[in-house]
Amino acid sequence: MFVHTADVYDAMYGFKDYEGAAAKLRDTIRALNPEASTLLDVGCGTGRHAEFLARDFAVEGLDIDAGLIAQARGRSPDIPFHVGDMTDFALDRRFDVVTCLFSAIAYVETPERMARAIACMCRHLNPGGLLLVEPWFSPETYWDGHLTGNFLDRPDLKISWIYLNGREGDVSVLDIHYTVGTREGVRQFREVHRMGLFTDGEYRAAFEAAGLSSSHDPKGLFDRGLYLGRAGMAGGAAS
Ligand SMILES: C[S@@+](CC[C@H](N)C(=O)[O-])C[C@H]1O[C@@H](n2cnc3c(N)ncnc32)[C@H](O)[C@@H]1O
Repeated sequence: MFVHTADVYDAMYGFKDYEGAAAKLRDTIRALNPEASTLLDVGCGTGRHAEFLARDFAVEGLDIDAGLIAQARGRSPDIPFHVGDMTDFALDRRFDVVTCLFSAIAYVETPERMARAIACMCRHLNPGGLLLVEPWFSPETYWDGHLTGNFLDRPDLKISWIYLNGREGDVSVLDIHYTVGTREGVRQFREVHRMGLFTDGEYRAAFEAAGLSSSHDPKGLFDRGLYLGRAGMAGGAAS
């Protein structure tokens, strides 16, 4: 999905306050479990959250995209980053906290695969561990037909990415048209991002099926909301 954009991903999302989000996450986690010390960020992309979360936790990251993981390893060589699919991964250890941020969960597209991802993340939780998932839009809140344009204007790097918010049933389809200009030349390409529109009920059912008690903060880190699950004292379900 990010085949053409791994090298410019950080420039495109330079406006995002990852440091502030990591601080909010730390405070949320500390309020629920002051002892939490290990954290896995699933769908970690280029590792921007991991970079800042590593100030307070022993962090690892996992993402399906090897190009983004290469960027993450370049930025933070001391953080272990894994290439893996959130619906089906098995690390040989568990964590006090698992996060899945900036709507990465939606890329699994269907409620069934979302439930598999939640269960898989839950299997990586220590007893009493926390799962924090930042969702994408729901079928009701999605901006159907909205026209989005983003523009980056630096002396040595110009990027525009434009798309219509399309929809196929309960899957949002972003057919993104990019133009990227550097001193080496200008390239144009498209990426189609398909992201599931899951209901509140589907998220809650997935958490419950995984054996997690859950709650929802409608504001969350960036006004996208935040689902919060807690494993029982026996930990996440066995692998
Ligand atoms: C919008 S990006 C968010 C990246 C990062 N969390 C951030 O905040 O910058 C969504 C991420 O989910 C990853 N992703 C999509 N499907 C995945 C899957 N099945 N397993 C693991 N990662 C996945 C993508 O490669 C991408 O890095």
